[in-house]
Amino acid sequence: MDSFIIRGGRPLRGTVRINGAKNACLPLMAAALLTDQPVTLRGVPALSDVRSMERLLATLGCELSAQGTTRTLRGTDDSKNTADYDLMRTMRAGICTLGPLVAARGTATVSMPGGCAIGDRPVDLHLRGLRALGAEISLDAGYITATAPADNGGRLRGGHVFLGGPNGSTALGTANVMSAAALATGTTVIECAACEPEIEDVGRLLIAMGAKITGLGSPRVTIEGVDALGGATHDVIPDRIEAGTYVMAAAITGGDVVLENFPTVTLGAALDRLNEVGVTVRPEGANAAPGGFIPGMTDTVRVHAARRFNPVQVVTQPHPGFPTDLQAQMMALLTVADGNAIITEKIFPDRFLHVAELLRMGADITRVGPSAMITGVRELVGAPVMCSDLRASAGLVIAGLAAKGTTTLNRVYHLDRGYEKMEVTLQALGADIERVKEN
Ligand code: EPU
Repeated sequence: MDSFIIRGGRPLRGTVRINGAKNACLPLMAAALLTDQPVTLRGVPALSDVRSMERLLATLGCELSAQGTTRTLRGTDDSKNTADYDLMRTMRAGICTLGPLVAARGTATVSMPGGCAIGDRPVDLHLRGLRALGAEISLDAGYITATAPADNGGRLRGGHVFLGGPNGSTALGTANVMSAAALATGTTVIECAACEPEIEDVGRLLIAMGAKITGLGSPRVTIEGVDALGGATHDVIPDRIEAGTYVMAAAITGGDVVLENFPTVTLGAALDRLNEVGVTVRPEGANAAPGGFIPGMTDTVRVHAARRFNPVQVVTQPHPGFPTDLQAQMMALLTVADGNAIITEKIFPDRFLHVAELLRMGADITRVGPSAMITGVRELVGAPVMCSDLRASAGLVIAGLAAKGTTTLNRVYHLDRGYEKMEVTLQALGADIERVKEN
């Protein structure tokens, strides 16, 4: 298990290009199961979760060819329809193979994903949605089996589905049901659909493959099923979470960083909170011309940070609210703000494993249920800390970049799941960070 050694205190300077979005890529790849034609994705990030999905799709009869950041997937063996626990346990997103498999192959057996460090990750809404399309679902020995109705020629049939749960909609659940409905007979309406840009991106690929979908990015998505889907080529949207993480890393070090391929349009809530903190993200180059900036998906921006940060209130919410996947990074930034900040986590109320590690670095944080009060300290101090999950680890990197002294971050394989060579990116920006490989 590799570690990072970070000697903090260096302002980050330079340019970073944001990679394709992990959370779009994984369900996009799964959509290749809906056709026997090639599906080409451009801008695929080099992440361990993407490699896990490639392995999973290989066991499900998909051939893969790779060139740079382009991946072409082609379903060549539709007799394979079991997603094994061994692959599913490393990457919960494997669940988004269930919808495409049952829709295209009539039946599928997918291992139930287990619990994980950020809290319970139920799949009841995924199953509710597939049941509403007529799938028969059974659970046995940790596996979910879904079968399309025999009296409909082994095809799912359109239905009316409400995908809201106690904490809002479900991102991957929406991708699953929308993908399955694309090949169902008749029309499906998903109410309380996830509005996350990554799920919209999945819808765009499905449309390029021949699906008939309206309402993408809104809470009501309508899918008119078609008999078959074909191949397509699709550009993966940039990763808003990677983008937000580098904004906060630049800000906490008082750096001067330009970010390219920056999806401003997806980051409204985060940029609003950052603005209150004293961190602004402004268009650069051609975009910066007077006459008003219209936030886009692939902007070039520059991060400006005040010398002192204001404490703010942050509540994580489904999109377009503040993303839970930036909560830990925001907390790291607020540890050095001037006063008391409050973060409330409304998506995964137990997603606070980074708190204990930030305390080891001298932060002052009190957790009460799904909220944490962060009292700003003058400075953080380096310490050995442990990665517990992907975004908690990103928060610890941000803290380490600002801390006085040396931070050793253990178990960085969590980071490798969602950030492409983060230490290399940060080194190029002047950070003193190295990866120590363990035999
Ligand atoms: N939920 C249910 N029932 C379900 C599914 C979800 O109650 O059947 C609840 C969850 O417990 C949670 C809320 O609904 O409280 C939202 O969960 P969601 O289903 O939207 O999460 P997900 O689709 O499994 C994706 C991302 C996560 C991200 C969440 C929320 C991927 C691969 N994962 O997960 O990303 O936090 O949406 O935006 O797309 C990460 O990248 O670090 C990460 C965890």
